[in-house]
Amino acid sequence: MSLTHIRPAGSPPRVAVVHGPLRAEERLLFAEFARRGIDCTRIDDRSAVVDLTGRPWDVDVVIGRSVSQQRTLHTLAIAEGWGIPTLNRSAVVALCNDKLRTSAALARAGLPQPRTLVAYTPAAALEACETLGYPVILKPTIGSWGRLLARVNSRAAAATLLEHKQALGSFHHGTVYIQEYVRKPGRDIRAFVVGDETICAIYRTAEHWITNTARGGQATNCPVTPELAALCARAARAVGGGVLAIDLFEHPDRGLLINEVNATMEFRNSIHTTGVNIPGRIVDYALALAAEGAARREAGLAAAPR
Ligand SMILES: Nc1ncnc2c1ncn2[C@@H]1O[C@H](COP(=O)(O)OP(=O)(O)O)[C@@H](O)[C@H]1O
Ligand SMILES: [Mg+2]
Repeated sequence: MSLTHIRPAGSPPRVAVVHGPLRAEERLLFAEFARRGIDCTRIDDRSAVVDLTGRPWDVDVVIGRSVSQQRTLHTLAIAEGWGIPTLNRSAVVALCNDKLRTSAALARAGLPQPRTLVAYTPAAALEACETLGYPVILKPTIGSWGRLLARVNSRAAAATLLEHKQALGSFHHGTVYIQEYVRKPGRDIRAFVVGDETICAIYRTAEHWITNTARGGQATNCPVTPELAALCARAARAVGGGVLAIDLFEHPDRGLLINEVNATMEFRNSIHTTGVNIPGRIVDYALALAAEGAARREAGLAAAPR
């Protein structure tokens, strides 16, 4: 342990936030830290040059808030390499960034989700569409804000879309992720989990079947029932836990299904809607990690597995 890592007991926690262009969420987190008198280091990944051969940041926790999934993942991985606790852990971010891996983790945990098939060639993908029955939903395994999602209503449309994906898509589109279309009641549910607690949830209502608030979905409060809380806690555990946003569908016959888990969530539309201080809860969680990280480091131990 170097001398710079020995600090007087009771020193304020040292927090770093890695970010790109600042969204409302990052500003709300900075404001929440400032309100508590905590000066957090901002790592702007657009200008950062990180020396991988030395400890890059002398902090107790790194919070990943870049718009870029890849940069968030890599910056968190660098911090973890030095035993610095991260929010979220890079393994959790990697898993949640990838819808295929998320589906696999949810299935492993026995959690309800839309039926999902994967195929790697247009011919096999067409067969998968036929197996599920139309309409089906095709999604890139990595993506957000409802981008490049397609509802496919017929074999002819599926064949065309698959041909386009193969001819125009990057190699990411070589894995075709095909899901049953869930007839939701004009809305889905976005639940926010911090640690083991489902702190609040919103309905996202839209005319369109894609309900992301980034695409115009309207947020209203969704009561956190014991069923919703328990299901979300299990889903959070299945992907490795932390601060997560879970998308769920209300299936007309099968009840709540988990659609996906987001590890770097947006929450600006959900604070007033739910009355819950989401950035405040995230900061509480980050500070608990920082305290734990600082204590372990002072004791000469590596970051605790979570
Ligand atoms: N299988 C499905 N059936 C019905 N609606 C879906 C389905 N998959 C996605 N959607 C709609 O599209 C939105 C975005 O899909 P999602 O899988 O969450 O991707 P993203 O990462 O882009 O948010 C969901 O919130 C939901 O409204
Ligand atoms: Mg989503």
